[in-house]
Amino acid sequence: MKDLLQIRGLSPEQIESILSRAGEYFDVVTAGGKPFPKLKDRSVITLFYENSTRTRASFESAAKYLGAEVVNLSVSASSVQKGESLKDTALTLDAMCPDVIVMRHAQSGAPHRLAGWVKAHVVNGGDGLHAHPTQALLDMFTAQRHFGSLNGRTAAIIGDIEHSRVARSNIYAMTLLGMKVKLFGPSTLMPSDMSGMPCTVCSSMREALEGADIVMALRIQLERMKGGLFPSAGEYNKYFGLNKDVMKYANDGAIIMHPGPVNRGVELSHDVLDDPVCIKDIQVTGGLSVRMALLDMLIGGEL
Ligand code: CP
Repeated sequence: MKDLLQIRGLSPEQIESILSRAGEYFDVVTAGGKPFPKLKDRSVITLFYENSTRTRASFESAAKYLGAEVVNLSVSASSVQKGESLKDTALTLDAMCPDVIVMRHAQSGAPHRLAGWVKAHVVNGGDGLHAHPTQALLDMFTAQRHFGSLNGRTAAIIGDIEHSRVARSNIYAMTLLGMKVKLFGPSTLMPSDMSGMPCTVCSSMREALEGADIVMALRIQLERMKGGLFPSAGEYNKYFGLNKDVMKYANDGAIIMHPGPVNRGVELSHDVLDDPVCIKDIQVTGGLSVRMALLDMLIGGEL
C-alpha cells in the first residue's frame, strides 16, 4: 500500500494490524518511553491547507518519536500565496525526496490528486467533507482499548453529519470492525441521501442512544456552513448536545468521544466534558500511537 487516503478499501485485517502496532507504541509512550529511532534518516512533510492542532502536531510528534526529520510547510507563508498550484507545490516538495507527505485540504479528493503526482507515500489528514482516515483509526484504537473487541457493539454519531469527514470515515471503520452505527442530528445537518452508507438515521436522541456503547459527538463545522442551519448554539445544545441526562438512554458504561476541537457547552455540556465518561484526551494519545504505527508500517512496506 503506497498511500492512506480513506478507510474504504482497507480490510479489517489491515485496520487490526495498525491498531495492534499502535498498542505497542501506546504502552511505551504512556509509560514515559523514549523515542524509538526506527525511522532515522527518513523524512515527513506536513502540508496543511486547513488549520489543525491535533492532526498536524500528532503527525509531527509521531514522526519525531520514531526519529524521522519533519518539515511543516506553513501554507499561509508559502509560495501557495503567490499563486503556486497544488500540482507544482506537490512536485516541488516531492523533489526534496520525503518519505511521506501528510496533507489536509478543504477540497475533497485533493490528497488523491497529490498521490498520483508524487513518489512519496501520501496520508490524508482530512479532505473536505470526504475522509479523515487517521481520525477514524485513532477512534477505533481508543474504543478498542476501552472495550476490548468492538464486534457487536453499537455507536451513535450525533450532530453535524453533513459536513463531517470524521463521521464518514468512522461509519466505514466501525462497520468493518463489526459495529452497528446510528446517526442523529438536525435535519438541516443530515445528508439528504445516506442510502449508500452502512448506518441508520434516527429521529430522536433517545432512539439514537438506546443500545449505544459509544456516543460520538461531532463538532459543528461553522467554517463549512453557508447560512444559518440551526437557530443558535444554545438551542443546538438543548436538542443535540450530550449531557448526563441524555446519556442515561445509552448502555451502562457507555463512553463519549469527540474528535475535537470541542465547542464547549454546545456539542458537550460541562457536566460530561470534564468527566471520565468523555475520553477525548485519551483519543489524542491514541492518535499519536496510531500515527506512529501508520508511518512505521507505510514506510516499512507492511501494509
Ligand atoms: N480532530 C482533528 O482533526 O483536529 P484538528 O483539526 O485540530 O487536527
